[in-house]
Amino acid sequence: MRIVIGYSSEVNYLSSMKKWIGIFFLLSGSILSAQNPLYIPPTLSGPTYNLNLQQDSVQFFPGLKTQTYGASSAILGPTLILEKDSTVAMNVQNNLADTTTMHWHGMHVAPENDGGPHTIILPGQTWSPSFQIMDKAATYWYHPHLHMKTAEHVVKGIAGFILVKDAEEAALNLPRTYGVDDFPMVLQTKAFDTSNQIIVDSHEDSIFMINATIDPYLDAPAQVVRFRLLNGSSNRTYLMGFTDSLTFYQIASDGGLLANPVAMNRLRLGPGERAEILLDLGTMQGQTIEMINYCEELPVGIYGAQYPAMNQFATLPGYPTNPLNLYNYTMLTINVVAPTASPVTSVISSGVTVTPLLEANANTTRTIDFGTTNPGLNFLNGPFVFNGYGFRMDSINEYVPLNNIEVWTLNNNTQTYHPFHIHDVQFYILDRAGNPPALNEQGRKDVVLVAPFQTVRFIAQFSDFENDTIPYMYHCHMLPHEDGGMMGQFIVSSTIGIEQGLGDAKSIRIYPNPVRDVLTISSDSMIDRVNVYTLYGASVPVPANGNKLDVSGLASGFYVLEVEHENTIRRIKFIKD
Ligand code: C2O
Ligand code: CU
Ligand code: CU
Repeated sequence: MRIVIGYSSEVNYLSSMKKWIGIFFLLSGSILSAQNPLYIPPTLSGPTYNLNLQQDSVQFFPGLKTQTYGASSAILGPTLILEKDSTVAMNVQNNLADTTTMHWHGMHVAPENDGGPHTIILPGQTWSPSFQIMDKAATYWYHPHLHMKTAEHVVKGIAGFILVKDAEEAALNLPRTYGVDDFPMVLQTKAFDTSNQIIVDSHEDSIFMINATIDPYLDAPAQVVRFRLLNGSSNRTYLMGFTDSLTFYQIASDGGLLANPVAMNRLRLGPGERAEILLDLGTMQGQTIEMINYCEELPVGIYGAQYPAMNQFATLPGYPTNPLNLYNYTMLTINVVAPTASPVTSVISSGVTVTPLLEANANTTRTIDFGTTNPGLNFLNGPFVFNGYGFRMDSINEYVPLNNIEVWTLNNNTQTYHPFHIHDVQFYILDRAGNPPALNEQGRKDVVLVAPFQTVRFIAQFSDFENDTIPYMYHCHMLPHEDGGMMGQFIVSSTIGIEQGLGDAKSIRIYPNPVRDVLTISSDSMIDRVNVYTLYGASVPVPANGNKLDVSGLASGFYVLEVEHENTIRRIKFIKD
């Protein structure tokens, strides 16, 4: 299929006019009519889902068509409707000229079904994972996750919605007729060159679109409607609201319904985040309202605000002149039309029972420090890293014992916001800068936007799935940051036997860790044998003198120390600084 999006004006005119549209809107309050009906992707229902990844083209602008990627579509992909507890079979056929992967973002699936960078689909191949749906009703999404090419494959067009349905959600009086009173909306921006082709890594992403529709309008019925908002942008954070600061109600966060609808008139959505909102249009038939990005209200340091870093002299090429960063603009025009035959007429008064994990039950804490290896004024170009190390495919950063309940502390030591995402789990935010999260962040989350020099702590349990060789990912969901190395990986396992660092109350301790020169092993019993391995099991010769190992010759990174004593083998992970 083709999405034909016509324009009466030319692209250059349009992009340079964007800022004037913003100014015009501010000065006069006038509403410029949008031209294109919002595209609503088709749905697929189970138990078998076929996604054909293909190259195609879209007529975004007059003249040359834009070369795109899509999943069984010219761009984007079908919305997958999944029933909780059912077992599904996915067939992802790669008809691209490039290797790729397919990740089910937010879903709790086994590492081998997760579609991370280790689970590649070569051109011409079909990947067919099958799994049970264990997630709660919410809005998830799918997108490619090839190492260093996630941004390219997503920006060229591959991304789709996953709507999980369950009994809890079905029991609530909510709009749920797809495309009628329940609308998926993926917010994205793209940069185009003068031949109308997509520029992948660009901060001149001056064209905003919802569901691949530029300047979209929606005819919505005069009743309570549901928007499933997904920020599918590579970099940009939105602060959305409606004309006249109309109140709306957030009912779900990334991974589930909230305990209660949260009344709001602004919603901030970072890359990768989702929110379901209700809008009561009951008394508005015949009116037109706008969904607006109030980016002028975004704090400095967030991509989408006037300045993308706390230090206003820090630069990103193209950013200062990109009109989407400077002025509020209309994202969607909503024409309120006649209600449907059996409309939902009131906003639910309560949602579902949310049971956050308790910090008192945590077994392990981990700290992830966000930093950059490029401290100059152009540091915004990255690379950004976690705990001082850029991502390496062959290096496992964390070992998580199966069923562990863990507190992760995220310290953003950079001058810009980063949306942190983790696979496998939904988490609960414990605190932001020491304060409890806002009401709309008290539900299940898999992305959290961390402000510059802020600490966010979350709690999660790593249950059900383990795999000794295929890791899960955690990363910044600003895709160029992820591709540039702001990503780590963790193994969940009940048997790997690798202990974290100091060994605490165990009979063996190693120190210091991280270590620069000499690693000391202290033990209350005789040590029979010591070996050092890389994380993938290659033996590394290390000079030893009694209980002291000279590791000064090792390259920086993660290693496993294997110690045999009392007829048992212990493996402890350490970091060579
Ligand atoms: Cu949406 Cu690891 O990604
Ligand atoms: Cu994910
Ligand atoms: Cu980032």
